[in-house]
Amino acid sequence: MTKLQQTLYQFFGFTSFKKGQEDIIRSILSGKDTIAMLPTGGGKSLCYQLPGYMLDGMVLIVSPLLSLMEDQVQQLKVRGEKRAAALNSMLSRQERQFVLEHIHRYKFLYLSPEALRSPYVLEKLKSVPISLFVIDEAHCISEWGHDFRPDYSKLGQLRKKLGHPPVLALTATATKDTLQDVMNLLELQHAERHLNSVNRPNIALRVENAADTAEKINRVIQLVENLQGPGIVYCPTRKWAEELAGEIKSKTSSRADFYHGGMESGDRILIQQQFIHNQLDVICCTNAFGMGVDKPDIRYVIHFHLPQTAEAFMQEIGRAGRDGKPSVSILLRAPGDFELQEQIIQMESVTDEEIANVIRVLEETEERDERRLRDVLMQYGVGETQARMMIHLFMQGKTSVELIKREISYRMELKLEKMRRVSFLLQRDGCLRQSMLTYFDESYEPDDGNLPCCSHCGFDLSLYEQKGERSKKAPLDSWSSELQRIFSLQTVGELN
Ligand SMILES: Nc1ncnc2c1ncn2[C@@H]1O[C@H](COP(=O)(O)OP(=O)(O)OP(=O)(O)O)[C@@H](O)[C@H]1O
Ligand SMILES: [Mg+2]
Ligand SMILES: [Zn+2]
Repeated sequence: MTKLQQTLYQFFGFTSFKKGQEDIIRSILSGKDTIAMLPTGGGKSLCYQLPGYMLDGMVLIVSPLLSLMEDQVQQLKVRGEKRAAALNSMLSRQERQFVLEHIHRYKFLYLSPEALRSPYVLEKLKSVPISLFVIDEAHCISEWGHDFRPDYSKLGQLRKKLGHPPVLALTATATKDTLQDVMNLLELQHAERHLNSVNRPNIALRVENAADTAEKINRVIQLVENLQGPGIVYCPTRKWAEELAGEIKSKTSSRADFYHGGMESGDRILIQQQFIHNQLDVICCTNAFGMGVDKPDIRYVIHFHLPQTAEAFMQEIGRAGRDGKPSVSILLRAPGDFELQEQIIQMESVTDEEIANVIRVLEETEERDERRLRDVLMQYGVGETQARMMIHLFMQGKTSVELIKREISYRMELKLEKMRRVSFLLQRDGCLRQSMLTYFDESYEPDDGNLPCCSHCGFDLSLYEQKGERSKKAPLDSWSSELQRIFSLQTVGELN
């Protein structure tokens, strides 16, 4: 047994590496900057957690989503690692203070790019040796350029301020262009690259046509009733997520609930945990759910609508089959889908008058904290992305309606273009897998022929249906104690 295998077994209980992991880990251990692509569920977290145990110093992980950080910290704690924390808005002032004051005690510290903006946080981070600076879901650097998270693009400068620790950039879904963006923004031109396929061979891809929305709803109900679960239904809007969950609850025996960005973060974490702990069979959600969620046995992912990008589609279906077992992705299509998605994107546009109003508010207020400013603008009904973008531009001195409008239009056009691309890929005649892989600049070589590929290549959906009686479901009422258990695991007092 090699030293690496020993460590793998000692800390994680696994006896072998997943494809690609070992090369990535060796690159990190040799002190090199590394860009790594492993498919969804490919085991990217272990690629920094294992070296964390072998290197002196702290591993700093930048992660885009709150629920994702919470999840990762919880998983580490369940595995007995107490030296893990997430610095985010879920922490109270005191908890945050505690973590920062005892920062030298942590091995794994997760934070959002926005949290790194604080000079105090930066000062504290400078006081500890950082063995590895990880950017998880690194495609967000480029992708969320479109969604506008300016803090992501500042990570390169931040790294310098932190004394230039080695970087590991991780993603499952990057095109060549996105990788180039990641390299430029993080100055990783000399990094070792370990790029594996985005393909998930154990997920069969299916597209089904429906005459209209009513038919789609009926089909979802039928699928949820018949397919082996648990499963996820991706919906175009918050309202749809709520409605479909209601329909499923009333018309099937499945335990369903909804999840979207309009919910309190506590509620979101609760639903996610209920799902992970098999207290829900199906979750109806918007694209706010998914990235990084690691539940091994999700058997199906249904898209009730067109996804907004090919990256999002791969991320979303990637929740399925993480245990390697056969799973299925089903996209329901009906006339008008494209226009609906177009409208959703165009809802983000703002009028000259609205921009002028925002400029006036920004000029009049003394407030310069971006988060608080965002809250102020959102109270005036400005969308979150728009608010973020306008504040950023304003702070850069771009204070004219014309300039701000041009920037917003440009980004909206990019979004529309990406949506047109994925719509085209999912509708064109031919192998769906090949279609998706082409987008990621890959050619498709069928694996071993045993696994069903896609509805174009042909497969039997009944393979994914339930056989015999439904398994007995755990009652929901034990949940509140479960939640308490999870949160008490995370109280900082435990470090004492
Ligand atoms: N060597 C291994 N052997 C067995 N299981 C592993 C191994 N490495 C990781 N895993 C398991 O694989 C699952 C997926 O890992 P992880 O969540 O890190 O995937 P990921 O690549 O980050 O996926 P995503 O892109 O969706 O975030 C986890 O449950 C993890 O414990
Ligand atoms: Mg991950
Ligand atoms: Zn195919």
